[in-house]
Amino acid sequence: MPGVEVTVEGLSKSFGRANIWSDVTLSLPPGEVSVLLGPSGTGKSVFLKSLIGLLKPEKGSIVIHDTDLVRCNESKLYELRKLFGVLFQDGALFGSMNLYDNIAFPLREHTKKSESQIRDIVMEKMDMVGLKGDEMKLPGEISGGMRKRAGLARALVLDPEIILFDEPDSGLDPVRTAYLNQLILDLNAQTDSTFLIVTHDINTAQTVPDNIGMLYRKHLAMFGPREVLLTSDDPVVSQFLNGRRQGPIGMSEEKDTAQAAREMAEVDELDGLPPIKPQLTATGGLPERKAVARRQKRVRDMLHTLPPAAQEAIRRSFEENSAPQARAQAVGAAPYSRPDDPTRALPRISPDDDPTTQLPRVR
Ligand SMILES: Nc1ncnc2c1ncn2[C@@H]1O[C@H](COP(=O)(O)OP(=O)(O)OP(=O)(O)O)[C@@H](O)[C@H]1O
Ligand SMILES: [Mg+2]
Repeated sequence: MPGVEVTVEGLSKSFGRANIWSDVTLSLPPGEVSVLLGPSGTGKSVFLKSLIGLLKPEKGSIVIHDTDLVRCNESKLYELRKLFGVLFQDGALFGSMNLYDNIAFPLREHTKKSESQIRDIVMEKMDMVGLKGDEMKLPGEISGGMRKRAGLARALVLDPEIILFDEPDSGLDPVRTAYLNQLILDLNAQTDSTFLIVTHDINTAQTVPDNIGMLYRKHLAMFGPREVLLTSDDPVVSQFLNGRRQGPIGMSEEKDTAQAAREMAEVDELDGLPPIKPQLTATGGLPERKAVARRQKRVRDMLHTLPPAAQEAIRRSFEENSAPQARAQAVGAAPYSRPDDPTRALPRISPDDDPTTQLPRVR
């Protein structure tokens, strides 16, 4: 089943007289993983909240299944929201409910499933994010990373077709971030659902998504396939994706233009065009991600419009990654698992690798 397309056109959002962004136009390609980047405060969270109708942009449209959710009525919006699984930046758990009830909440709210069916789903998702055994804990009693993982489990219980994650990796240690990134691609391989993920993690941005978008100075600076953004000579995109100090983005967001130009000249001399990092692949034994072929076709179709250096880097990366499944197995990915139970192959964010549980006990 192909994923759901989200088409955003001419979208503008202000709070009172403060404009956050204007004229944002993009289509989230169905069944692909997209990442949204941008300096802090550029309105990434506001964008995600607009996509599910929690905030109302004053101009433009967001169309899903032929319905514009900026303008539709409440009952239609309620229906459309069932397509989404959302992890908010702060986790947004109910403080007075234990983790089990928090994660069960969307199932009790939106489905007629029995408590025993709900139990199976909740326990499966809690296991998947490494929270097995923590069902009775309250959000206030656990770490920030655990709250994040509980939020992830809750976002996934309805098997959503569109998944929005606002900084799922903030507050996670590097090992868990690696598990999370693998989990995202494995979920996408199995469900072909559409993802939009906000992250500040450069490695995630370089190796996980099919598409990258960047908000900057109240506009969408660019949105497109990873190969195009990762080879872009746009100073803002290239500074951000390479995590460099030199470039137009400063601590207070905008630098003096002359200084930025001097720094960019320096960087050009130093670096040239870096090779494209290979994209992570789904765990061996899972279906191949259909998103990859769809995206690569788009890139091939637009290749002739790109600068020669970018074309060269992209061709090289296609050649080097022409057989991703074979490569994944060659580097020792997880062993084949039974195809009749796809969840078996999902990586688990295991409590066993929680460093705090490895500490000697002080009695
Ligand atoms: N409900 C609201 N009312 C008024 N202003 C708001 C509201 N929500 C967000 N803003 C403002 O919108 C701007 C963008 O906020 P947003 O949280 O979307 O940034 P962000 O890109 O997600 O930043 P970060 O990377 O730090 O999470 C900020 O200036 C914020 O103060
Ligand atoms: Mg945010």
